Amino acid sequence: MLQFRDEITANDPEIIRNIANSTGFFDKDTAEISVNIAQTTLKGYNKDNYKFLFAEYNGKTIAYACFGRIIDSSSTYELYWLSTLNEYRGLGIGKKIISELINHIKNLGGRKIYVKTDGTSQYAPTRKFYEKCGFKNEAILKEYYESYDDCYIYSYHL
Ligand SMILES: CC(C)(COP(=O)(O)OP(=O)(O)OC[C@H]1O[C@@H](n2cnc3c(N)ncnc32)[C@H](O)[C@@H]1OP(=O)(O)O)[C@@H](O)C(=O)NCCC(=O)NCCS
Repeated sequence: MLQFRDEITANDPEIIRNIANSTGFFDKDTAEISVNIAQTTLKGYNKDNYKFLFAEYNGKTIAYACFGRIIDSSSTYELYWLSTLNEYRGLGIGKKIISELINHIKNLGGRKIYVKTDGTSQYAPTRKFYEKCGFKNEAILKEYYESYDDCYIYSYHL
């Protein structure tokens, strides 16, 4: 049975590391960014700006989202990180965690959610995924990440 939790626990930095690395999408340093955010959140810092949502299947954490209220905004949120454990990808978990995230942010008084993703072909399934989840491509920032890698900004109106 799939369940969600929003409290972060001491084991989560390691769980996040394993999930992020399992996807093969992030280099080691990039994967460590969300691990570091989890460690900081565990210590009680930046609680509004960095929150976590975890999906558990039969007690095993198989996906996570890291999101938060955008600094200087009272009602817009950004989804910073999202990954499903590799062997569970394509099974509908990502869609369910997004739907849970939408409810969660609605309850926090959120008005809009933004997410940025890469423009390379590796991320074509990710872009398709956000579109399937109801996100709209609002802007493309040319050469944002690298000269060959644009930034796609998607948004979802609550
Ligand atoms: C993007 C990601 C979080 C999606 O989670 P998921 O659990 O695999 O997604 P789901 O199974 O819920 O897929 C939802 C929809 O996206 C589409 N989708 C997912 N993976 C896809 C793929 N590889 N190719 C094409 N479409 C895909 C599916 O068609 C599905 O729609 P459907 O239910 O109508 O068939 C996950 O694949 C992942 O961790 N990817 C690598 C890391 C990444 O890109 N993270 C986001 C960084 S911004």
